Amino acid sequence: MLKKEKIVIANFKMNLVLRFEMENWLKGFLRYKNDLNNLSTTKIVLCPAVLQTDIFANKLRDIKTVDIGLQDCFWERKGSYTGGVSPTMGKSFGAEYVILGHSERRRYFGETEEVIALKLKKAVTVGLKSILCIGESAEEKKADTTNLSLNKQLDACLKDFPPGQLDRLIIAYEPVWAISSNKPVNPPTVDEIMMAKLIIRKNLVKRYGTKSADRVKILYGGSVNQRNVEEICFEAGMEGVLVGKASLVPTELWGIVKKLELKLNVD
Ligand code: PGA
Repeated sequence: MLKKEKIVIANFKMNLVLRFEMENWLKGFLRYKNDLNNLSTTKIVLCPAVLQTDIFANKLRDIKTVDIGLQDCFWERKGSYTGGVSPTMGKSFGAEYVILGHSERRRYFGETEEVIALKLKKAVTVGLKSILCIGESAEEKKADTTNLSLNKQLDACLKDFPPGQLDRLIIAYEPVWAISSNKPVNPPTVDEIMMAKLIIRKNLVKRYGTKSADRVKILYGGSVNQRNVEEICFEAGMEGVLVGKASLVPTELWGIVKKLELKLNVD
């Protein structure tokens, strides 16, 4: 991966519910097939609901700039874990990535940092690139404890992370209050995003040293769209974005990718 390459991760959450919705999305996205194959500096990761992993992987197999990811996985390889998704199973059905610790998993599925740490360790060990989501809540922002909150989450989630797998670790800074999927909100300012990136980078450097910390990409997620993606990636210097709501419309997702690709090839 080139140093300046940016990564766009689409998190469909529990959307594209009916089969025809998923098929329409794929049809709309595949209109850009040639353009997608010609991308030189942007990588796309699509994270559909787990049931659709295999379908997405098969449909998009020929497009080398697009990978598939899971939205979660369990920490065991196999066994009596009703409803669980094994990371090895995910890999075997076409996933290369997994999102872990998303605030919606914490909120609605009761996921603790202890659980996230277990999942993270297992996922990277079986070869899934793992996107660890961290971010402060609205209350923490108000109380001015973002620094504390991010460090606490990183310390707990990376507690047992195997340093030899840092190439497979991606951190997504997602302020919980800025997630737009349910209601429109304003994302944080460039300064706020840069500050969060610095906090994350400092934690990683303290933990692994400068050179190893550099192997970890830091992304931003929360209300990303075509209009703010350049600011986030080029002014605030994030290495990519995690996109929820906007990714449900193929033209919008493509718009985000195109903005990055054009700018990266001009500079
Ligand atoms: P959003 O969601 O783009 O709809 O704000 C981002 C996310 O939750 O990952």
